[in-house]
Amino acid sequence: MFVDTETIGKEDWEELQRNLEATIPVYDKVNRVATFGQVSKWRRMVRERLPSNGRILEVGCGPGSFAEDVEGYDLVCLDPIPEMLKVAEERVNSARKKRGDGAAEFVHGKAEDLPFDDASFDAVCTLFSFRDWFDKRAGISEALRVLKPGGTFIIVDPAKINRFHGFLGWLWMRTYVSLYARILYGTGGHPWKWLTKTYVSFGTTKDYVSMLQEEGFIDARAKVVFPGMATIWQGEKPVN
Ligand SMILES: C[S@@+](CC[C@H](N)C(=O)[O-])C[C@H]1O[C@@H](n2cnc3c(N)ncnc32)[C@H](O)[C@@H]1O
Repeated sequence: MFVDTETIGKEDWEELQRNLEATIPVYDKVNRVATFGQVSKWRRMVRERLPSNGRILEVGCGPGSFAEDVEGYDLVCLDPIPEMLKVAEERVNSARKKRGDGAAEFVHGKAEDLPFDDASFDAVCTLFSFRDWFDKRAGISEALRVLKPGGTFIIVDPAKINRFHGFLGWLWMRTYVSLYARILYGTGGHPWKWLTKTYVSFGTTKDYVSMLQEEGFIDARAKVVFPGMATIWQGEKPVN
């Protein structure tokens, strides 16, 4: 088993992807319960941090839970799981059509090797996906590359404050969240059991503020919006 604060080994990442794919049918339900319904508030906080217009990339869009409510913009959603993209495309583009927004683009790919030109986005965001990236430094450096000068990068994920806090988080995932997932799936072999591993191995809020700075972002900062469940990191690409 090879998962640490920066990297996930190839076999473990592939296993993680299989487990993430298996969450699709109940993804939003479990997240709502696991976060006491707070997840929609955190998603709104990210939308409020986006520039007022331009081209936006969401990395690791999953089944479209965030992208669905991104109104306007020229929106591009990327994910390595084809089934996630399929579900997201139907959901997001049907919401966009109803609002009169143009269709979003759905692209197969990984954070660590973004299939986009340099300086082609006004903002890049990633919600509850960064912790699953197999090379977090490479992903941050790719986000910097595809951003226009002055562009914004936003990450949301559950960081821990210290090891003890990490233990409490593990307990939370293994009891409350696991029990709920078990009821929904009707079996103890549900995917959230595996997802706990990335939660436990994920670093602290400070770890990733430093990583953003080291990879070249300026004004790197973080706000713990719900300890152990959601931290929002943000940084800007330098103008020169
Ligand atoms: C938990 S879902 C998050 C979905 C959505 N962003 C949300 O707000 O709920 C995590 C997503 O990250 C994707 N992911 C995992 N590793 C990735 C990587 N290396 N690059 C890009 N996306 C990745 C997974 O395929 C999955 O769809």
